[in-house]
Amino acid sequence: VVFEDSIAASKAVANEIAELIKLKQSKNENCILGLATGSTPKGLYAELVRLHKEEGLSFKNVISFNLDEYYPMEPDSVYSYVRFMNERLFNHVDILPENVHIPDGKLSKEEISAYCNAYEAKIEALGGIDLQVLGIGGNGHIGFNESGSLQNSKTRLVALDHITRVAASKDFGGLDKTPRTAITLGVKKIMEAKRVVLMAWGEGKSNIIKASVEGQVTNQVPASFLQEHRNATFVIDKSASSKL
Ligand code: GLP
Repeated sequence: VVFEDSIAASKAVANEIAELIKLKQSKNENCILGLATGSTPKGLYAELVRLHKEEGLSFKNVISFNLDEYYPMEPDSVYSYVRFMNERLFNHVDILPENVHIPDGKLSKEEISAYCNAYEAKIEALGGIDLQVLGIGGNGHIGFNESGSLQNSKTRLVALDHITRVAASKDFGGLDKTPRTAITLGVKKIMEAKRVVLMAWGEGKSNIIKASVEGQVTNQVPASFLQEHRNATFVIDKSASSKL
């Protein structure tokens, strides 16, 4: 779906999420959201905060699982995705703290694999992700599933691609300060989500959007796996659609 601009697109995605939360509320059910970070979902979170403050949208039945976190990473670091999510969304809505899940960047190396298995088990015990929000990396990564990630990959510690680190180095104040690894939800759990909405804005994403939507399904472009998802939509602005 192509929108005139990212503001209109973000509002449409926020409305879909709000309707899902309310539908689940009416059935006394939890709403399991998979959430993303990066610059792309900022407008979405701003609109969800507005819907909470101005239209009374409650997040009390929302259970969230974030896609990824840098490793190692202190949760209170300005660079952490924990901090990002708190500042952009969680501090401003009535989600219960115990319902928020973000991969833990301060585990010891030995703890990571059991932690990742438990992260997935928690999602499974809740019946899976109802709606997964995604951005897309310039190389087609989703979460931090870089090129080469398999369609059945599990939640795990990954090495970040050079191109991903270069993109992130602007935030970290230099490549030498940019983490080399991260913990990411695997492609399998993303593909198992009942609904997936991938957002992308700007000319800079137009080539990878074309490759993901019209190219071959290949693990070189993990977002292309979504062509095989039963209910995935790419919500993009005009400039991101310019090569389609
Ligand atoms: C990071 C995140 C991804 C995100 C991507 C794109 O790598 N881990 O989840 O989709 O960046 O970032 P941006 O939205 O800033 O373009």
